[in-house]
Amino acid sequence: MARILTGIQSSGRPHLGNILGAIKPAIELSKNPQNESFFFIADLHSLTTLKNGAERGEYVRAIAATWLAFGFDYKKNVFWRQSRVQEHTELNWYLNCFTPFPMLANATSFKDKSEKLSDVNAGLFTYPVLQAADILLYNANIIPVGKDQKQHLEMSKDIANRFNILAGEDILVLPEPKIDERIMTIPGLDGQKMSKSYHNYIDIFLPENELKKVTKKILSDSKQLEEPKDPDNDITFQLYSLVAKEADVETMRRNYLNGGYGYGHAKQALFECFMEVFAEPRRIFNYYMENTEELESILVEGEAKAREIAQETIGKVRKVLGFSS
Ligand code: TRP
Repeated sequence: MARILTGIQSSGRPHLGNILGAIKPAIELSKNPQNESFFFIADLHSLTTLKNGAERGEYVRAIAATWLAFGFDYKKNVFWRQSRVQEHTELNWYLNCFTPFPMLANATSFKDKSEKLSDVNAGLFTYPVLQAADILLYNANIIPVGKDQKQHLEMSKDIANRFNILAGEDILVLPEPKIDERIMTIPGLDGQKMSKSYHNYIDIFLPENELKKVTKKILSDSKQLEEPKDPDNDITFQLYSLVAKEADVETMRRNYLNGGYGYGHAKQALFECFMEVFAEPRRIFNYYMENTEELESILVEGEAKAREIAQETIGKVRKVLGFSS
């Protein structure tokens, strides 16, 4: 039995990149009866960059609604908000004291962020330690995240190992930083990785006319309608091939190669495809965004399950550190 764990920061509404790159593959893994899945909303991590509480609340709801919209079975698995299980912050402090300063100072994501952001706070610096606490609290084995998280996972393993050595007991389970190679980079409107910080993302839960407008903004070259086009170097085609049925992708490929088919046609086809494939997720998403008490009670139920497991780990940690008898 493998224990899968992953978190998504509540620093924005989930976009197509998060959905295809993280949420859907994680839900696929969770369908295997051999696996037990722990999916949470990393709302504490989002505080490193987002200070507005009302916005955070909205994003937390949107992320929760997205997991549910794509069919995550919250009854069989564990689904919660990081901030509501206080053991995350408690373990975070203990682990801080087992984390060598240079390990954090050398983290690539910290260096990147400190170049890009104006607010370089201590939370950004210790971000990987909170992430280690998230993983180690639940003895998780598999962490399905993209390649950009590889270093953080290695740090979690190193921190757990140092803790066990210095505390003199094998209390924390060393997670295997298994990067899921199938997790791909989804191109955004401009062809760079789709990301909130690049402002190039597609929010598939937008009202129909707005989604259409966004789809029309996808960058394309200046080839005229009659000219043949190269599908493999076109963002609209790439996105279409990630969501459409194989036969429809083939048809679009031929249309590109033959000419007489404009980028406007392709974008319209992509938009219609979004409306079709995401019809059910859009309906469920809107349902939960309107029925927030129901969403709240699902999360509260998950938090009770998460807390029970987290408390077991924290109990052992407190004991070995002399914080309980
Ligand atoms: N750092 C992750 C990201 O930005 C989010 C995250 C927080 C996470 N805690 C985690 C992912 C624990 C996996 C496991 O994508």
